[in-house]
Amino acid sequence: MYPIFVTDSSPDAEEVIQSMPNQKRWGLNKLKGFLAPLIDKGLHSIILFGIPSKKDEKGGMADHPDTPVIQAIKLVKKSFPGLFVAADVCLCEYTSHGHCGILNEDGTLKNIESVIRITEVAVAYAKAGADCVAPSDMMDGRIKAIKTALIKEGLANKCLLMAYAAKFSTCLYGPFRDAAGSAPSFGDRKCYQLPPNARGLARRAIKRDLNEGADIIMVKPATFYHDIIAEARELAGDIPIACYQVSGEFAMIHAAAKASVFDLRTGATEAVGACLRAGCSLVLSYFTPEFLDWLST
Ligand code: PBG
Ligand code: ZN
Repeated sequence: MYPIFVTDSSPDAEEVIQSMPNQKRWGLNKLKGFLAPLIDKGLHSIILFGIPSKKDEKGGMADHPDTPVIQAIKLVKKSFPGLFVAADVCLCEYTSHGHCGILNEDGTLKNIESVIRITEVAVAYAKAGADCVAPSDMMDGRIKAIKTALIKEGLANKCLLMAYAAKFSTCLYGPFRDAAGSAPSFGDRKCYQLPPNARGLARRAIKRDLNEGADIIMVKPATFYHDIIAEARELAGDIPIACYQVSGEFAMIHAAAKASVFDLRTGATEAVGACLRAGCSLVLSYFTPEFLDWLST
């Protein structure tokens, strides 16, 4: 599954992201031309991230009809009906403070308001035609709320719910925050993302999201968390496990290849192979275009 950034800075935007080799922020008019050759090479699935030009306290743009993600879902599903289109659901790209939820005056999270808002956004993306909604905020209770709302709207049989279930507060998200302009303006995400050493909390979060109705369980990041992937595999029974090879992993592999530590193809292939070996059946990777080339040669 290939993560793609869509921006509303201009419909013809094609903005280079300095910290993420070969990745760009795409304007709506550019999406078809960018995706068509990848689909010819065998691309099956993407996940969309929106980069809005307007932000506010509550992330109002996240589900606005003109927001880049909603526009992109409609356009991509119309142009390529066979492509599986997931939409990341979070508020951090859309909030002025850059946190993943709605805040109290003192900067702490309002859990209930956040969950309600995130559920509205997820339903809007499902209504626009997303095959999968993937909440990445880590707010307590959001999986149950979204699943229930999808059922009520008659969308649960059309739209999968992929839970970022074990999402760690890691050093590996830097390039993404640069790409998405979503770094928190104060504080950090440690009160909602898991501490890197928290194996028990990860197990609890995975079990919770399974109980609340997740259709896919995701572990994020991938490379430093293979043990968690293996545990998720054990805990989840017949539910598929996904992992996200995040921006910092991607940048790290590129940097190592540039420094002649290994060659890019061998390093990237071994890294993703390890995720599969640990028990994943779906990998989100910025290397997807390269893999499509490598797998055909
Ligand atoms: C937050 C979110 C993050 C990523 C995607 N959505 C993490 C964060 O900023 O805390 C990171 C993805 C990556 O690094 O590739 N909702
Ligand atoms: Zn977020």
